[in-house]
Amino acid sequence: MKHFDFLILGSGIAGLSFALNVAPRGRVAIVTKKDRAESNTNYAQGGIASVTSKEDSFALHLKDTLAAGAGLCQERVVRTIVEEGPARIHELIELGMKFSEREAPSEDGGRQLDLGREGGHSKRRILHAKDVTGREIERALLAAVAAQPNIEIFENHIAIDLITSQKLGYVGENHCLGAYVFDKNGNRVITFGAPVTLLATGGCGKVYLYTTNPDIATGDGVAMAYRAGAAVANMEFVQFHPTCLYHPKAKSFLISEAVRGEGGILKTLGGQEFMDGFHPLKSLAPRDIVARAIDSEMKKSGADCVHLDITHKPAKFIINRFPNIYQTCLGYGIDITKEPIPVVPAAHYQCGGVVTGVNGETEIAGLYAVGEVACTGLHGANRLASNSLLEALVCAHRAAEKIVAQPTAKSELTIPLWQSGSATNADELVVVSHNWDEIRRLMWDYVGIVRTNKRLLRAQSRLANLQSEIHEYYWNFIVTADLLELRNIATVAELIVQCALLRPESRGLNYNLDFPGLNPEWAQRDTVARRAA
Ligand code: FAD
Ligand code: SIN
Repeated sequence: MKHFDFLILGSGIAGLSFALNVAPRGRVAIVTKKDRAESNTNYAQGGIASVTSKEDSFALHLKDTLAAGAGLCQERVVRTIVEEGPARIHELIELGMKFSEREAPSEDGGRQLDLGREGGHSKRRILHAKDVTGREIERALLAAVAAQPNIEIFENHIAIDLITSQKLGYVGENHCLGAYVFDKNGNRVITFGAPVTLLATGGCGKVYLYTTNPDIATGDGVAMAYRAGAAVANMEFVQFHPTCLYHPKAKSFLISEAVRGEGGILKTLGGQEFMDGFHPLKSLAPRDIVARAIDSEMKKSGADCVHLDITHKPAKFIINRFPNIYQTCLGYGIDITKEPIPVVPAAHYQCGGVVTGVNGETEIAGLYAVGEVACTGLHGANRLASNSLLEALVCAHRAAEKIVAQPTAKSELTIPLWQSGSATNADELVVVSHNWDEIRRLMWDYVGIVRTNKRLLRAQSRLANLQSEIHEYYWNFIVTADLLELRNIATVAELIVQCALLRPESRGLNYNLDFPGLNPEWAQRDTVARRAA
């Protein structure tokens, strides 16, 4: 058993930012599934949206976010996050983050940050480090964390479940007391106790067969919070990124929206532009519209992908602005300065999540959630590009401030150690890998970009069968990382289907052919799932 003042699950932008903010106040444990930098954050390309230029304003960033969110954003939350963004960006720069700068100095001769543009943004406002913004964020934050003696990182440790007073049978308000964590190298379960636990576990792209997300994104935080009794909302709003590289050897490689922001044009395989018929912003329309347009174009033509063409821009500009995309594509035999890039939509971002306030507080005392795992009300029915890194920065800071101002008392309750009982080593691991594949394929086929109630109900009944198999496996065999993740993707898949069935309308990312329009009764209404007591 290990005791800390702050237990943080996850080492992406949310977990690391929070850790740096609370470290002066106590001992911090960061538990992370793989290597410390491995996270969705590490793969972020486009950048961080924030108002930093004279041509831009908070009012415009607010307006663009609300428009993308299709009526479901909480305006108060959007305003807070947009307005506090510049201060958090400034702190990130002070910590050592290096954003790309413009070659030309500003009017007063000072250095100017280069601002990118992405879908749904009416102004250039995306701060970036070329096309590897996330890698640079992780580098800067991890370097700052390494200088803090109060922070200990546990790599290759995967949180299994939250420990709550309710689960232990205590009456009264439900408190989070820490988490059970599987040490993959030591092959043992460690009990972490802490008065404050932060879920910073990121999203759930791996629930789908095709995704831009790395392997860590299995929705563990949402599944753990749901099992612990917290409310989870708006899980139907899964954002599909329109442009993931289509190549048999490429796994999850994103072609940033910034490529379209710099003039890249979507075309059919025959070289025809096709976005004109879908939105006045054409290739730079909001993501839900572009992803659906590509899906429709592929279904109409029977093609396996569409093309993204930026060859009309000078090669020097492309190579300098998108060095990682250029090199990676070249590695697959595609020279993006000379030929179009084959792309397809893929699951990218979870707009819903654990219900929190803008300070990260959940319904369970002592449990906070920040970043992609959380549903604060910022994104509504569709996230505006590059708003997620911003949300994580602002909310991690606010959560830390609130916790430090009102410290949570250490609990007197006794936390039992993990019991393996009569569990034995699993004999047929093929069951785990088969169920993994089945869930991801059925989610792609039945709960994808365009939905129907018939397909959702079919998915629901298959998932119920799979859940009972997984449940039996979980309770009879000694835990492994694959089994833990399988259990979580099954739960998150069920939550996505449940929320999609609750919403009788097409809004933002939830497009259901049985309910093609908006339903005014569902304007400003979240779909909320809570585990039956
Ligand atoms: P993550 O960065 O995903 O970190 C999650 C952490 O939790 C990881 O360390 C993981 O190992 C750990 N973890 C998960 N489960 C467990 C467990 N059970 N036990 C222990 N540890 C666990 N957003 C933007 O705003 N701008 C962009 O340009 C942008 N580009 C993107 C490009 C790609 C390819 C992808 C995939 C996403 C992009 N996004 C972008 C989205 C953005 O990167 C994420 O939403 C954001 O980084 C999430 O940060 P986070 O800290 O919440 O989670
Ligand atoms: C991208 O670079 O296209 C990703 C931006 C985002 O997901 O916000």
